[in-house]
Amino acid sequence: MEKARLIKVAGMASILALGLATISPAARAGDTVKIGLILTYSGPFADNARQIDNGVQLYMKQHGDTVAGKKIEIIRRDTTGAAPDIAKRLAQELVTRDKVDFLAGFVLTPNALAAADVATEAKVPMVVMNAATSIIVSKSPYVARVSFTLPQVTVPLAQWAARNGIKQVYVMTSDYGPGHDAEAAFSNAFAAAGGAVVGSVRMPLASPDFAAYVQKVRDLQPQAVFLFVPAGQQPAALMKTFAEQGLTRSSLQILATGDVTDDAVLQRMGDAALGVITSHHYSYAHDSALNRAFVKAYAEAYGEDLRPNFMAVGGYDGMAAIYRVIEQLKGEIDGDKAMAAFKGMAIDSPRGPIEIDPDTHDVVQTVYIRRVEKVGETLVNVEFDKVTKVKDPAK
Ligand code: PHB
Repeated sequence: MEKARLIKVAGMASILALGLATISPAARAGDTVKIGLILTYSGPFADNARQIDNGVQLYMKQHGDTVAGKKIEIIRRDTTGAAPDIAKRLAQELVTRDKVDFLAGFVLTPNALAAADVATEAKVPMVVMNAATSIIVSKSPYVARVSFTLPQVTVPLAQWAARNGIKQVYVMTSDYGPGHDAEAAFSNAFAAAGGAVVGSVRMPLASPDFAAYVQKVRDLQPQAVFLFVPAGQQPAALMKTFAEQGLTRSSLQILATGDVTDDAVLQRMGDAALGVITSHHYSYAHDSALNRAFVKAYAEAYGEDLRPNFMAVGGYDGMAAIYRVIEQLKGEIDGDKAMAAFKGMAIDSPRGPIEIDPDTHDVVQTVYIRRVEKVGETLVNVEFDKVTKVKDPAK
């Protein structure tokens, strides 16, 4: 029902082909602060949207839906997948018709990049809760990011690998923004640390069949592979292909960003994932009081079967940042003042401490090196090393 309605709204927006009107501050004033949440609620990346939305809702449940005397209203819109034209139209409609005070969400880079143009024209602050290509925050002075960047998590992994006896790596990434970032970051950092990249391949974003790509790894027999594919349906399919072709940890070291061993699907990957070494900003198994409380509250709200992943934390922390700005501006949201309020903001997150870089509006955080291990009956990303205060190295 909800899904059908969302899709209909997306369709209506295309018919109306709304342009951008100038928005006076008076038009936005009132008793509510509106947040337009643009996510992939349907299609192959729907699970990611669900995680972000759950994080948003959990934060609101815990902290109330009134801030600085204003009621917080979430307006949800579905891009249905990687669809920059739809994302742009939805963002335009949200700022012109719904008069939102913030744009937020964004699982996928192409959608975030498209909406950033709207944020700039309308001077509406936009909070990126996942999309992780480095360049997104440079696209508009009105974008702040609370999630991560691919270079931010990849460089520490490349350096760890070079320090730990890995000499040759074959690089496999998705053929779009975050994949290109991961490929460049790994290749450059690994080479700078004395390692050799023995080849690389870019795999399509839409419905890839991984068999031929994994066959190539069998033929080349590198010491290790480095992988990035976006969280969603692809990581499990990719890991299954490695297992089917007999490439397990006895013959090949798999290195990846934490997107590939996403906590929400790791259980389903089975023992094929054991021993995979990843780097990322959040593990469901992160050992802190704050994370234990977060995991417990998430389970109470959404059930024990769905583990919160890094996207849930992105939604949760994104709301924390937005609440902070609303409080600071006493409920009167102005784009420029909001962006000034994001600068240097520090948040205690379930992942550990994070900060919004005052120069770039990008997130600064601890990057963890993790290994997939069986703890009791379940597979988890066990953190065993970390680098603190990591900025996006690509800027
Ligand atoms: C992105 O499109 O920026 C993206 C999507 C999923 C991920 C990471 C990055 O897991």
